Amino acid sequence: MSTMSTISQYSCVPEDFELVAKEDISKNTSFEQLGMYVKACGGVVQCLFVLLLFIISVSIQVLSMWWLTFILKEHNPTSSNNITNPTILSDNTTDLNSSTKNATYSNSSTKSEGESNLIFNASIYGGIGLLMVLFHMIRGVSYVKTVLKGSTRLHEQMLQHIINMPMSFFDSTPTGRIINRFSSDILELDNRLPLSGEITLLGIVLLLAVIISLIIIAPHVTVAFILLLIIFVVISWTFTRSVLEIKKLDNTSRSPLISLITTSLYGLTSLFAYRKNNVFFSWFSDLHDKHTSFSFLFYLSDRWIAVRLEFIANLILFAFIISVVFIKEISAEFAGLGLVFAVQFIGMCYFVIRLLIDAAARFDSVKRVAEYIKVGEELQSFEIEPTTNVSPNWMDIGHIMFEDYSMRYRSDLPNTLKKIHLQVLPGQKLGIAGRSGSGKSSLGLALFRMVAPSSGTISIGGQDITEVSLKELRSRISIIPQDPVLFIGTIRYNLDPFNNYTDEQIWSALENCYMKNAITALKNGLDSDVEEDGKNFSVGQRQLLCLARVLLRANKILVLDEATSSVDAETDSLIQNTIKQCFTNCTIMIIAHRLNTIVECDKVIIMDNGKVVEEGIPNELLQKSNSKFYKLWKAREIM
Ligand SMILES: Nc1ncnc2c1ncn2[C@@H]1O[C@H](COP(=O)(O)OP(=O)(O)O)[C@@H](O)[C@H]1O
Ligand SMILES: [Mg+2]
Repeated sequence: MSTMSTISQYSCVPEDFELVAKEDISKNTSFEQLGMYVKACGGVVQCLFVLLLFIISVSIQVLSMWWLTFILKEHNPTSSNNITNPTILSDNTTDLNSSTKNATYSNSSTKSEGESNLIFNASIYGGIGLLMVLFHMIRGVSYVKTVLKGSTRLHEQMLQHIINMPMSFFDSTPTGRIINRFSSDILELDNRLPLSGEITLLGIVLLLAVIISLIIIAPHVTVAFILLLIIFVVISWTFTRSVLEIKKLDNTSRSPLISLITTSLYGLTSLFAYRKNNVFFSWFSDLHDKHTSFSFLFYLSDRWIAVRLEFIANLILFAFIISVVFIKEISAEFAGLGLVFAVQFIGMCYFVIRLLIDAAARFDSVKRVAEYIKVGEELQSFEIEPTTNVSPNWMDIGHIMFEDYSMRYRSDLPNTLKKIHLQVLPGQKLGIAGRSGSGKSSLGLALFRMVAPSSGTISIGGQDITEVSLKELRSRISIIPQDPVLFIGTIRYNLDPFNNYTDEQIWSALENCYMKNAITALKNGLDSDVEEDGKNFSVGQRQLLCLARVLLRANKILVLDEATSSVDAETDSLIQNTIKQCFTNCTIMIIAHRLNTIVECDKVIIMDNGKVVEEGIPNELLQKSNSKFYKLWKAREIM
């Protein structure tokens, strides 16, 4: 069973549902992502420098053990080549007296010489200890700074790319998936990967140092080492691959779980109203069980490898002990040192492999973050941000021209807007009517370049909008969307997020859209809270607050997408008056919910199936009984 089909079972989405592509888990961690991580950490040179610090600090640690053994050998009275050994010095037997004298003399002089030697050697040992502490500190600080730089940069890059993703990405990517990458994966990058990476690096370097030391002490064990290491590597490699797959499943199975939680929270009211809590609860339990079963599997495989690796490591220890017993030329001190290293080796072998697997598994998070950065780069390369400077008053004329313009929401969908030819003259009020789904909102979105054109152009004041940066374009046109958006914060923050306007200006905008009384009635006025999605305001009030925002910005071009659809008829007609007064010289595209709001426009167009099927002056069209506008008008009267 492939991993892809495994995952699809754990999603609530039916298998043939194609809008949301399944999360890719088949690719292994590649060098490309490692390269991306190294680059984010400050580049190859910085990473090699940190690696060198690891090697130096571990070498000093091992050197201290060697030096201690050397001191023991130097000052051991039973050692054969010891200068302080009295049996060697009293060997001369020609004159017993003189020799005794000499021996006493030599004894006391070599004793003091030996003592000073011991002090000297011990000082060097102390010096090595100090050096070890110093390098441990330097290594620790450099490492933490490097990896934190890496995770911060990757987070920034991912955020930057996600913010600039085209709409098609958000249409086809569940929020849970994005949240998973920004929460769990970034946590891995910030916390767990650096921790397990540091211990892994330290373990690998130490293991190599121990192996080299053991080979120096007993060169004969090299053959046993090589043989067992080959078995070791084969086992580790085989199991590392399966454990990494399990870790990936563990990571990917978390996304549907988070998606379910977010959708449940979003539709909590309907869920309780229709008493579907149990259904959602059982979905949640199911997804949660599947997710935890992967985590459990991860720990089980870990134990499995542990048993096998420790067995092999013990065989290596056995080989070393045998060689120490049978090879006489290894001195007692170095045999002791070798045994210390060999015992250390047993503990470390499994430990290092386990850490390596853990670090590689955690590196999957780097892969997932890097993937979003790459997807962002690929998707955004279709919409290369223009760098050409446009004149600051390019928008002043407010002349809009659609020429042969077609657009589709995603490359695998048919065109939503089809070969639109449309001219909106400066200061003209254009009414747009048509059935639901005929493409009216899409026409407004096209003006904001929310979606790239599949053919044709839109120009404003003669300037092709694809040649203008998105920031410049979107900041110069205002829209009141069909679904008004308010952010968590205060009323003031929602109307003027960048603090560009005075309180008087804000109040005057609120007055013009008939919201002044409602806001004054609130305890904190402009500083009153706006809840998530503006839930503490009615949809109509939210639309009016969006209108106030638009009034403040006073842009030359305005799109009203059924802007007052949720406002009562009386307020609506007052608002229409406000729009007329406040935007006298502006070009306005009014997508109509109530036809009477566009009957006074300079021009109306009727849309059907993504095409402009009629265009004319409203009063003239109303005179023609065969016009589409007339038919829509009549249909409205019947209703
Ligand atoms: N984000 C989207 N992704 C894919 N198709 C979309 C998207 N938004 C709208 N559409 C499709 O485009 C067509 C026109 O939609 P829209 O412009 O919202 O119509 P209107 O505003 O006239 O009701 C519809 O068929 C709709 O299904
Ligand atoms: Mg619409």
